[in-house]
Amino acid sequence: MTTENFLSDAVSEHSSSGTVCWESPSNIALVKYWGKRGDQLPANPSLSFSLNASRTRTQIRFEPAKSGGFEFRFDGALKPDFHPKLEQFFVRIKPYIPFLDTSFLFIDSSNTFPHSTGIASSASAMSALALGLTDIERSMYPERFTDDFFFQKASFLARLGSGSAARSVYGGYTSWGKLNNRAKYSDLFASPIAPVHQNFQHIQDSILIVSKAVKKVSSTAGHALMQGHPFAQARFKQAQENHIRLQEILQKGNWDAFTDLVETEALSLHAMMMTGTPSYFLMSPESILILDKIREFRKTNQISCCFTLDAGPNVHFLYPDSAKSSVLTWIDKQLKPALSNLEIIHDSIGSGSVKIS
Ligand code: PMV
Repeated sequence: MTTENFLSDAVSEHSSSGTVCWESPSNIALVKYWGKRGDQLPANPSLSFSLNASRTRTQIRFEPAKSGGFEFRFDGALKPDFHPKLEQFFVRIKPYIPFLDTSFLFIDSSNTFPHSTGIASSASAMSALALGLTDIERSMYPERFTDDFFFQKASFLARLGSGSAARSVYGGYTSWGKLNNRAKYSDLFASPIAPVHQNFQHIQDSILIVSKAVKKVSSTAGHALMQGHPFAQARFKQAQENHIRLQEILQKGNWDAFTDLVETEALSLHAMMMTGTPSYFLMSPESILILDKIREFRKTNQISCCFTLDAGPNVHFLYPDSAKSSVLTWIDKQLKPALSNLEIIHDSIGSGSVKIS
C-alpha cells in the first residue's frame, strides 16, 4: 500500500449531514516509537497494547459549511496545546478526506481518564476522531470500504494526528512501522498482531501516577532529539531486533523474556533523552524508587511483572491476570505507604475501538 491508496474523491453532497460517534482507547508501547521523519513516518517499528478503561469518546456532527469553506468547533476537555494540534491534523488529512473542504464539523470529545496523568490522551483522541471521519467518508462512498481498509484508513489518518494514535484503532497487541524483513508491516498505518499466547491475553497495567505536571518535553521535541543523536542508529537497530523478539515472546508466552525486553525498551527511551542535546531527565526520584521496588517484588515473590515508561515520570506496572491479587495487595501495603501522593489507575489490555450508536 502507498499513500495514494488513501486519497479519496468522496465529496460531500449539498445536503450531506449527520452524526457519528466513536470510542477509542489509549495504548502503551512495549517497543517504543522514538524518532520520526517526513510526514509522521516512524524511524523505527513499535509494538503496543491498547488499554481497556482509558478511552476517548468523540462525537462528530457534520453539515455543509455556511461559509462554503472548512470550519470546525471543538468541545470537550481541551488541553491548551490540543487546538493547534487539531488544526495541523486537519491540514494534513485534507487530501485524504476531501469532503472536509466544504464541511462544518462540530466535535464533542470526552476522556474516561484525567488529562496529564501520563496516559497518552492524544493517541485515544486522534484515533477516535480519525475513526469518526473515516466513518463519514464510508457513508458517502461505501463501495470503497472493506472492513480491513476501513481500519487501515482510520489508522493512516490517526497517524497524521499523533504517531502512536495509529496503533489505537485496534484492540489487543498492535504493530506500526516497517520491519526490515517482513513485508506485511507498514510505516503508513498500524496492524494487529496475532496469534498471542494466552499468558499475555489478559495483561494488566496499573498506572502509577507520581506527577500530573505538564510533560517536560513534548513528543515533537523528543522525536526531534533523535535527529543527529549519537546513538540514533544503534537505537533504531535495537528497536527492530526487539520488535521481532517480542513477537516471538508474545507467541510463546514467556514472561521472563518479556520483562527483560520491556524494561530495556523503557530505559532505552529514557537513555536517549538523557544523552541527547539538549539532555532531559524525565524520571523523578519517585519513579526510580518504584522501578527498584517492582524489581525487588519480582525477585522476592518470583512473580512475573515488570515496568514500562512513557516519556515522563509515571510508571506502567505490567503483570498477568493471575498475579492480580498479589500485586494489588503489595501496592496497597508496600507501595502506597512509601509514596504519599501516589495515584493509581488500574487498567488492562482492551478489545479496541467501538462505534457508538
Ligand atoms: O505519538 P507521539 O508523537 O506522542 O509519540 C509517542 C512516543 C511514546 O509514547 C514515548 C512511545 C510510543 O511508541 O508510544
